[in-house]
Amino acid sequence: MIIFTVNGKKQRLDVSPDTPLLWVLREKLGLTGSKFGCGEGLCGACTVHIDGKPQRSCVTPLGELQGKDVLTIEGVRDDHPLKQAWLDVEVSQCGYCQPGQIMSALDLLTRNPKPGDADIDRAMSGNLCRCGTYGRIRRAIHAASAKGAQKGGSTP
Ligand code: FES
Ligand code: FES
Repeated sequence: MIIFTVNGKKQRLDVSPDTPLLWVLREKLGLTGSKFGCGEGLCGACTVHIDGKPQRSCVTPLGELQGKDVLTIEGVRDDHPLKQAWLDVEVSQCGYCQPGQIMSALDLLTRNPKPGDADIDRAMSGNLCRCGTYGRIRRAIHAASAKGAQKGGSTP
């Protein structure tokens, strides 16, 4: 039995400990915001926070999550400045990579509330976007930074 927290809710799951967290989120818990891209930890589409740090859920086995706290895109408030900035700047194109982008951006703004372009490019370099929305991602992060997006980011 693996007991951990997802978006503030305690979960008790009797699942093989080598099952990737992404599978559990999507198929057991119905949290489909985190996406499957490469399945090898390379694209960032599956990014969530574990104990406040961004992690690739496709390569994180459930067995590592005992007692830990997971935050997914669904756990970030809809009125969070970062999500609002994403909408204001109309960042998304196909949208597939965007939940992972936002989770990485949330980590960046938590660590560095006023990032410069180089900070953004470095922090976001592990999140790939086949639609090439990188310029708008950068603009949205600057906009969110101006609104203090690092504060009170998640639910509950
Ligand atoms: S699906 Fe996890 S990093 Fe690509
Ligand atoms: S918006 Fe399409 S992959 Fe990023």
